[in-house]
Amino acid sequence: MLNPAYDLDAVRRKIPILRTHIPMNNCSQAPQSEATRAAADAYLTSWAQDGMDWDTWITETEAARREFAAFIGAHVDDVAVATSVSQATSSIAGGFDWTGDRRKVVASGGEFPTVGHVWLAQERLGAEVEWVPVRDGAIDLEDYARLIDERTLVVSACRGYYQTGFKQDVSAIAELAHAKGALLYVDAYQTLGSERFDAPASGADIVSSGNLKFLMGIPGIAFLWVRPGIAERIRPTVTGWFGRENPYAFDEARLDWGEGARRFDTGTPPIMEAYVARAGMGWLREIGLDDIEAWNAELGRRCVDGALARGLTVLGPHDSSRRAPTTAIACEDSNRVEAELRANKIIASARGSAVRLAPHFYNTMDDVDRALDALAAAMGPT
Ligand SMILES: Cc1ncc(COP(=O)(O)O)c(C=O)c1O
Repeated sequence: MLNPAYDLDAVRRKIPILRTHIPMNNCSQAPQSEATRAAADAYLTSWAQDGMDWDTWITETEAARREFAAFIGAHVDDVAVATSVSQATSSIAGGFDWTGDRRKVVASGGEFPTVGHVWLAQERLGAEVEWVPVRDGAIDLEDYARLIDERTLVVSACRGYYQTGFKQDVSAIAELAHAKGALLYVDAYQTLGSERFDAPASGADIVSSGNLKFLMGIPGIAFLWVRPGIAERIRPTVTGWFGRENPYAFDEARLDWGEGARRFDTGTPPIMEAYVARAGMGWLREIGLDDIEAWNAELGRRCVDGALARGLTVLGPHDSSRRAPTTAIACEDSNRVEAELRANKIIASARGSAVRLAPHFYNTMDDVDRALDALAAAMGPT
């Protein structure tokens, strides 16, 4: 496959930075598109011209909630609007009862640290956290099977591992969790937008994601999906007036709960971010997630094959069906190499002793080849 099913040139014209740079850092921050720029401008214009237009702004936040729901095949009332994955996960974790026999969290060692920290913070309330080890940049299902038991309240398993791009089999983990009566929490931040993901069909019970990576958005907003029937079992302690049945009841002495996952909303929503998030997700859906996923698989394969052909070491599994578009290349002085690539207008992402190349639907094969050439040159003889 030499080209995606959509018009790649037309797509590229809508991302201004492509005129001067090769962005390959979607595992960290997506580039700005015309759509997201226009969305941010729409908010700024409204604020400048109207001073205050809360009805429109809140309507826009609801539209972003609806867009995220559509993006993951879910109902709008099963989605909460948050300001970060950390906050969304805290709203969930703080709402469990950690005093019963079922108080164990089985968390993958591939969780982004923030998610691990949220589970660890519950230890003061009685939670016990056990870790599923990462081996060679991947995680074995057998390790989940070994650790999940009748005392497990929740299993925490990211869909994509931020370090190596390794993708976990959510349905298989869900089966293991449910067989022992545990819930499955999935952080989909490193994959959502790069592939089609149907949350209700995945088997997960709770799914979170922010928007600044493959969803083509900005920091300051995140979403949380909770399977119908489960939200009502969780009583958040991280809460606020937007989590109420009627946020405008203004009754400080009454703590009721919004419908479905709305109970996990907290304070004033991230409005400008909601404008941008909706535009980013809407553009991806317009292009088509199946076609984006297919092209990302090609780009990922090219990254792995090209890195190996240049004598570089690729971390994690090499098989494209088990990876996000992110490819991690072992590199001891990754920050220096990232800076050198940036000086050549190639944006990569250093993380620990690896440089990650994370292309997305707008990248070409030539982008990948040029990034790998520059990376190999910056690293010197291996
Ligand atoms: C998989 C994953 N989860 C969570 C986060 C951070 O989430 P937040 O800063 O929204 O709390 C990141 C950030 O890079 C991430 O890659």
